[in-house]
Order: sequence, then C-alpha cells, then structure tokens
Amino acid sequence: MSKKIVILNGSPRPNGNTAALIEQFVKGAEQSGSTITQFDLQKMNIHGCLGCCKGGKDPSSPCVQKDDMDKIYPAYKEADLVVLASPMYYWGISGQLKTAFDRLFAVAECDPHYANPVKDCVLLMAAEGDTEENFEPVRHFYLSLLHHLGWKDCGIVYAGGNMAAGDIQSKPKQLEQAFSLGASIR
Ligand SMILES: Cc1cc2nc3c(=O)[nH]c(=O)nc-3n(C[C@H](O)[C@H](O)[C@H](O)COP(=O)(O)O)c2cc1C
Repeated sequence: MSKKIVILNGSPRPNGNTAALIEQFVKGAEQSGSTITQFDLQKMNIHGCLGCCKGGKDPSSPCVQKDDMDKIYPAYKEADLVVLASPMYYWGISGQLKTAFDRLFAVAECDPHYANPVKDCVLLMAAEGDTEENFEPVRHFYLSLLHHLGWKDCGIVYAGGNMAAGDIQSKPKQLEQAFSLGASIR
C-alpha cells in the first residue's frame, strides 16, 4: 500500500547535509510507491506556539495564529508517516523544526481528550559529532516524543561527521542508509 509521507525539513541550508539525506530518502520512498509532501520550514512564515490552549475549533486551521502552518495542517492530517529532518543544533533539533512541531499541538486540541493523530515517524539528522554519546540527547528526545504521541518509530539516520554543507557527499554509507530507509516505507 502506498504511504503518504510529510517531510518537515528543519535545515536552513538548501544544499546542506540534511537536504542530501532527504533527497536520498525521497528517492527510496518514491521507488516504493509513496507520495511525498516536503515543507522547507526555513522558507515559511511560522511563529512560535503561544501556549494559549485556545485552538482546536476549526480542524482545517486549528491554531489561533494564522500563518504558513495552515499549509502544513491539511497534509499532516492526511499523512501516514512524518519525517523529522534536521541538523543537530546544540544536541537538539533545529529551532525551525521545533517551532513547527510545537504548533501541531493545535491539532490535538481538536480532540476532547487531546489525543494526537496516530502516525509513523522517521528521524533524519546531520551533525558534526559522530559518536553515540553525541546523538544520545536527540535519541532520548525523539523516542520520548514518540512515546508521548503514541507514534511508531520506523527508523533513524544519524549522519555524523558532517560540518560544512555537502560534507555528507563523501559518505556514501550515510546516503545509502537514508535511501534504504525511504525504500523500506511501504
Ligand atoms: C547553531 C549550530 C549548532 C550546532 N550544534 C551542534 C551540536 O550540538 N552537535 C553537533 O554534532 N553538531 C552541531 N552543529 C553542526 C551541524 O549539526 C552540522 O553542521 C550539520 O551538518 C548541519 O546540517 P545542514 O547541512 O543540513 O545544515 C551545529 C551547527 C550550528 C550552526
């Protein structure tokens, strides 16, 4: 069965290492018949969550703030799988991705019990550090998030050893890992 995939790209660098991971993941996923909608968050006008808890009244535009999140909500609603793609910024995901993800809270507000829509999820992350220790805080964050949301992890690519944009091009194994993960989504 073909899956609907939404990619939230938290990297500000259009030719960066996260972008290369996404490109390979997409090639793999398209090969296995998935349909993909990608949001390059850096190019979008998305404001931080106000924590007002006053959303959830209009399912097609659930947040009280009206900005480019209204382009994401309909695709998110339909998605089977969400790809969180980000550079590591201070042992976390980028601000661009965190800001957008926080705003998805408004979707849960549509449910009287704050239940989140159930999704599968993938994490693609580029970073300078290349040790298990370096990725541990992000791993903990990602798995805790999924546990809270009730989502299923379908795979993680930790692409360490990449500082400058394009460094990843000399690491075919990391690119292959992203491709294979994409191809495994069916
Ligand atoms: C603000 C900032 C914070 C960063 N923090 C970390 C970090 O905590 N650990 C790490 O390994 N790399 C860190 N890096 C390096 C990036 O993760 C790395 O350059 C990555 O390849 C960038 O991905 P991109 O090319 O998709 O932008 C940081 C870079 C920036 C600009």
